[in-house]
Amino acid sequence: MALPVTDLRARLASLPGLETLLPVLGELAWPSYLVGGAVRDLLRGERSIDLDIAVEGDAPAAAHALAARLGGTALGHERFGTATIRVGSLTADLATTRREVYDRPGALPRVEPAPLHEDLGRRDFTVNAMAVALTGEGLGTLHDPHGGRTDLDAGWIRVLHQASFVDDPTRLLRALRYEARLGFALHPDTERLAREAAAGGALLTLSGDRIRVELEALLAEPDAPGAVARLTQLGLDRALHPALAADPQLVASAQLGALQTGASPVLSALAALCIGASSDGQRQDLERWVAGLGLPAPAREAVLSATRRAPALADQLASPLRPSELHESLTGEPAETLALALALGAPAEPILHYLAALRPARLEITGADLVAAGIPESPLLGRALRETLRLKLDGELCGREEELRTALSLAREAR
Ligand code: CTP
Repeated sequence: MALPVTDLRARLASLPGLETLLPVLGELAWPSYLVGGAVRDLLRGERSIDLDIAVEGDAPAAAHALAARLGGTALGHERFGTATIRVGSLTADLATTRREVYDRPGALPRVEPAPLHEDLGRRDFTVNAMAVALTGEGLGTLHDPHGGRTDLDAGWIRVLHQASFVDDPTRLLRALRYEARLGFALHPDTERLAREAAAGGALLTLSGDRIRVELEALLAEPDAPGAVARLTQLGLDRALHPALAADPQLVASAQLGALQTGASPVLSALAALCIGASSDGQRQDLERWVAGLGLPAPAREAVLSATRRAPALADQLASPLRPSELHESLTGEPAETLALALALGAPAEPILHYLAALRPARLEITGADLVAAGIPESPLLGRALRETLRLKLDGELCGREEELRTALSLAREAR
């Protein structure tokens, strides 16, 4: 059902921050529009909307003019025709309306300024290919050349043209993200195109960085397990890497494990996708794929060490361990390893006991106390302290005096 212009105007005016921008945008020489996901969310009645504004003209210049008038700052990327303005707590992204030219599938497109209808025509899905005029007589008019409004009402995710997934295979992952977030479904024609693109190797044309950005966004959705179930149904997991096995229940459990252990839910879920390798060769190949995603080093190591260590750890924790053994096994493991071990069926009690009581445990004495008692500095001293801590964890020592006595006798024995 078409929304009256007055209704959309009222919705625009109620968006936090937009009431400040609208009068000034109206004074500029160029027409401007709210576009993309912002319009989708506006029509869905969302209150918190990222302001994405397309300018049929010079977006960086418009941003500087807005910032100057409103007392904010503008950061422009003239080369890309984009800019971000900040005025108090308000942030808005401006971009010159553009067309995109794909030199080869999967590559980032070359962009050129173009009218609004071409800018809408280059987008991923109909529900993301609408604009609402922010300026002129038509303020509040919906521009919907691809039937986005109808698809929004019907709950369809639908591409604009047959080659969409081949031109930009990140859209395969984006489609599942929107399905999960909005509770929508791929339109049957779009689903067929998605399966064909995946089977045809479209995802292999993407750089690791582009895969990472979309995969992380997908795994950050509240219904990530639902999106992961769809990854498998459409064969996207195997298309990303033949050893990637997307098990929605394991992903859900890894996310739960992340909550219990303080791990990153996204990295824990990613690690859960990566434990399906059936041979050493496949495992190494999968590790190379993870390394190629361009995660920051600590995140990459967390994912890799979780996939390597969690299955063995889950087995090991199945039998009771002394506190000192538990401490030794878990010390230094990233939280993601613990999250994945929980997901793989490790009992929660020892892991939670380690996190709450064993990991923070410290001796009341230090090396300086041993040196003061006449033990020369050497690696033996560290070993004596570690052994003393082990005894303390197992409840065999209590208080500073006992710790000192034990550590001194261990250090002397060792000498
Ligand atoms: N877009 C696209 N193809 C892509 C990436 C983005 O067509 N591969 C377009 C879509 O119109 C999208 C808009 O650019 O709505 C903004 O991209 P992004 O911020 O990634 O998407 P949003 O829809 O705003 O999603 P989110 O709500 O998750 O930020």
